[in-house]
Amino acid sequence: MYQTELLAATDHGIARAAGLLREGALVAFPSETVYGLGGDARQDRTVARIFEAKGRPGFNPLIAHLPDPEAAARYVDFPPLARQLAGRFWPGPLTLVLPLREGAGISPLATSGLTTLAVRVPAHPVARALLRAFGGPLAGPSANPSGRVSPTRAAHVMAGLSGRIEAVLDGGACEVGVESTILGFADGGVQLLRPGGLPVEELEVALGQRIAQHTTPKEPGRPMAPGQLGSHYAPGALVRLGARAAETGEILVGFGPVKGDLTLSESGDLVEAAARLFHILREADALAGPDGRIAFAPIPETGLGHAINDRLRRAAAPRF
Ligand code: TXA
Ligand code: MG
Repeated sequence: MYQTELLAATDHGIARAAGLLREGALVAFPSETVYGLGGDARQDRTVARIFEAKGRPGFNPLIAHLPDPEAAARYVDFPPLARQLAGRFWPGPLTLVLPLREGAGISPLATSGLTTLAVRVPAHPVARALLRAFGGPLAGPSANPSGRVSPTRAAHVMAGLSGRIEAVLDGGACEVGVESTILGFADGGVQLLRPGGLPVEELEVALGQRIAQHTTPKEPGRPMAPGQLGSHYAPGALVRLGARAAETGEILVGFGPVKGDLTLSESGDLVEAAARLFHILREADALAGPDGRIAFAPIPETGLGHAINDRLRRAAAPRF
């Protein structure tokens, strides 16, 4: 058990967090998408502790966070399309799965032994300051117990991981609210591995081409990206989607014209809905109580709606 420190995002707090990370400790950190569970991606023991703290299956690889594209280029090779997208969208909610460079020094536990590494340059000022102060690749899955709702506030991290990690750096509420969009670059093309905080339509406009969806696992039980596990983001309550009204005993989460006990966005704004999603899931779960049920209003399948619907489908998926 650890006495988890809650660090303010001051110069002092950031320096303390970076010092802990260099010693191999686990420090949760804010990003514009969700909070990450940070640890030095070069230290096997640290990476193993990330899996242990989350209760995460060992076959699910981690994203390495870097302060800038130059730092990322020390660990992975950039094909031209990836270079173009990194130039346009980094820092930001975009993760690129790229060929790992030989001798890069990343723990094989972090990549689950794959020959690729997922890299991301986050935009959150506190994350960037932390990455600069730490000076290495920071492994960072979402800072929640595996399979549960992702954290968008320091209090969410504390609720799930207090006692299991050394510290949480508090950067306030995450602005985007859903995880990064993940792209792969196999066979000279571009594949969408996870819809996320950067709408795929924007990526398609930048590339001038459609992006293939690769979000179904080729081998069952060996996901290419996390959301590819059926049940994920699961609250305690059962979840029903596409609801226009509550059934008996349900907590209804509205959107736009569908009024609920709670709402993702009264004005039907997808940016606001994404930012509130995981917080509202937690609130609805608390309201529903043990063995409760939550119903969600329909969300349009456009822009950030892809990522929101993806998370909601997994929250509603059968649990094993
Ligand atoms: O927004 C985000 O991406 C957040 C913040 C903290 O950066 N992180 C996050 O990490 O969502 P995580 O671990 O919950 O989801 C990242 C997923 C992994 O579960 C994995 O399936 C996929 O990215 N991934 C990582 N490395 C991969 C690789 N080499 N090939 C394919 N997928 C990979
Ligand atoms: Mg996650």
